[in-house]
Amino acid sequence: MSFDFQVKDLALAEAGRHQIRLAEHEMPGLMALRAEYGAAQPLKGARIAGSLHMTVQTAVLIETLVALGAQVRWASCNIFSTQDEAAAAVVVGPAGTIENPQGVPVFAWKGESLPEYWECTDAILTWPGAEGPNMILDDGGDATMLVHKGREWEAAGQVPPTDEQDSEEFGVFKALVRTTLAQDPQKWTRISEGIKGVTEETTTGVHRLYQLAEAGELLFPAINVNDSVTKSKFDNKYGCRHSLIDGLNRATDVLIGGKVAVVAGYGDVGKGCAESLRGQGARVIVTEIDPICALQAAMDGYQVARMDDVIGQADIVITATGCFDVVTAEHMQAMKNKAIVANIGHFDNEIDMAGLGRVDGITKTEIKPQVHEWTFADGTSIIVLSEGRLMNLGNATGHPSFVMSNSFSNQTIAQMELFAHPDAYVDEHGKPTVTTLPKHLDEKVARLHLDALGAELTELRKDQAEYLGVDVAGPFKPEHYRY
Ligand code: NAI
Repeated sequence: MSFDFQVKDLALAEAGRHQIRLAEHEMPGLMALRAEYGAAQPLKGARIAGSLHMTVQTAVLIETLVALGAQVRWASCNIFSTQDEAAAAVVVGPAGTIENPQGVPVFAWKGESLPEYWECTDAILTWPGAEGPNMILDDGGDATMLVHKGREWEAAGQVPPTDEQDSEEFGVFKALVRTTLAQDPQKWTRISEGIKGVTEETTTGVHRLYQLAEAGELLFPAINVNDSVTKSKFDNKYGCRHSLIDGLNRATDVLIGGKVAVVAGYGDVGKGCAESLRGQGARVIVTEIDPICALQAAMDGYQVARMDDVIGQADIVITATGCFDVVTAEHMQAMKNKAIVANIGHFDNEIDMAGLGRVDGITKTEIKPQVHEWTFADGTSIIVLSEGRLMNLGNATGHPSFVMSNSFSNQTIAQMELFAHPDAYVDEHGKPTVTTLPKHLDEKVARLHLDALGAELTELRKDQAEYLGVDVAGPFKPEHYRY
């Protein structure tokens, strides 16, 4: 078998395979889905274009999708988040060799340039032969955006010229679409018509999908994986509780105890971040725009303040909002000497890196990859992690396997569901919708992870179930319950 792929070095495959083997042990949900559905091959005929951080945990997801019958092409959804050994191992495959790879075409390496990033995203959507992908598995919505914008601009007859308002990334994105349309003028119409649906991993990507659906522009149905309870209340919270600290330690090894840490945003990610910083002994200050989340933070014992008022006290500033311009160039100039600033939200616009680069007399020194010291004209400096991109994947290896097993079990179930029943995910006018998985599947994902933690679940008696008005087998909560 031969196929196209682009990774750093296939010689890393053995190291990657060892890590995948250990991760499988920590991913009981995915392994249970392989055991349950492997024989039935529910994803036979699925051609999945996946855009999600190419880590060891993602390798177990990819190989689960393959075990269920899918063909897959994969790219990372961030230029810094690939673990090169995992990418190599997925290409080689469990049964392949470096000389004769038998796995999955992966287009991802740590430290892609922006043009390379978009070329990789294009590569997962560009299948050899006549048939394109029929499913997207997305994280942050970049693959979905490429199909939508590609088709929109194709219909308009041109890609709008790059203007001053465009971020560097959007300029690069436009250039990529221009190139694809020059090579194949109907590419994005053809690809979008072949796609049955997308399953989306994260808050920011889901936000984009709801915006498209509200505007009536969503081209195919979507399952919102992020808002499965067993995703956002676990990965976003407990995952970040683990990987924020991991990123800070690997990047700087600065002692966190006793320091002042500001966390912007007290949603699921911010809650996990604040808890982990407090666990290390930091004095944590939270900034919020939502009174409910601000009150939660206050009642959890954190000071709630405005960034402008506390930026000068902070030793560590973490953004976790999914918003833009949360830390401005002015904020960074007001920070303490050698303070650390990092973002754990999906996109790099939470910290105004472009504005920082324009500060008079500023210089940038690479301490090591993804750790930079920015020195101001007065000689003081700040440390910026992963150039403002999500630091838990840029400076560390993202969330650990066990929590990702929950997220990726939801992904796998969502792919099976949407591939089998795309017509069920449209509204009464036939317009594609964005939907979360039903609660019994959410509960199933949780159930698949209890044994591994030695948790013994209490079973309802029939009369108790009747008293509560639920079925003994669940679902146990109404849709409006918030956990
Ligand atoms: P969320 O919506 O639960 O929380 C975000 C919070 O930020 C909200 O409470 C909101 O009110 C607040 N906020 C918005 N603008 C603000 C501003 N200007 N200043 C202060 N607070 C502000 O979203 P969630 O799930 O916590 O995700 C946050 C970001 O992290 C998203 O971009 C998401 O895609 C990303 N994410 C990253 C992960 C990682 O591994 N790095 C994992 C999961 C999500």
